[in-house]
Amino acid sequence: QLMREISGVKVLEHQVKEKLQLDKVIVVPGNSDKERRVKQELGKACVSYLKDVIKDHMTIAVTGGSTMSLVAESMTPLNKKDCLFVPSRGGLGEQVENQANTICAQMAKRAQGEYRLLYVPDPISEKAYQSIIEEPAVKEISNEIQNADIVLHGIGDAITMANRRKTPKSQLEKIKEADGAGEAFGYYFDKSGNIVHKVRTVGLQMEDLQKINQVIAVAGGTSKADAIESYFKQGQSNVLITDEAAAEKLLKG
Ligand code: G3H
Repeated sequence: QLMREISGVKVLEHQVKEKLQLDKVIVVPGNSDKERRVKQELGKACVSYLKDVIKDHMTIAVTGGSTMSLVAESMTPLNKKDCLFVPSRGGLGEQVENQANTICAQMAKRAQGEYRLLYVPDPISEKAYQSIIEEPAVKEISNEIQNADIVLHGIGDAITMANRRKTPKSQLEKIKEADGAGEAFGYYFDKSGNIVHKVRTVGLQMEDLQKINQVIAVAGGTSKADAIESYFKQGQSNVLITDEAAAEKLLKG
């Protein structure tokens, strides 16, 4: 039974890798919508992949979300010199355990690495954004974030994320009308991968990802298949860690 499960996920990994044109796909058995254990397996798979690619003196940027918080939970010492963890963005209108800052600190502690946090509100008005990015302390951490060597990020269902982040009604309507499917880094995408809404944030922007070698998306569950597909239409990530249920739905879609 176990052997059959393993060979099954290997086939899925290959097919998803081909479909999304990625460097690496890891599929764990099960459906994280149904079992928390499966989401924990996503976390473990991410940690073990990170250990394969991390080197001394690297900076790792991490996003928020429940999946990333389970990556943090699975983290163990990286045994590398001077690894720095930074959050991809500032403080969101979300539960503290789902915030990038919290996850970043927790991950760094478990990895026995260093961390720096980004203490700015997120989202932020255009006016405040323009002045806050000029603050030396903010500039410094923004630089670290934009020059990260590795990014670990979640992908969310657009409407779920917009609701969870208490998005103003007018923006929520805009996302709904545009058939928003996926969300990552504060960008909302429709099924064709067009950006239908973007939250103004200090921190990692889509264009920053182009020069980062390892951009690792971690997202699973049937409910996220469309979100994953929409993100990868133009997403800059080269690695996907997902589960069997999301992979199967993704391949059917
Ligand atoms: O940024 C949040 C992610 O896009 C998704 O969050 O892991 O809780 O589903 P999640």
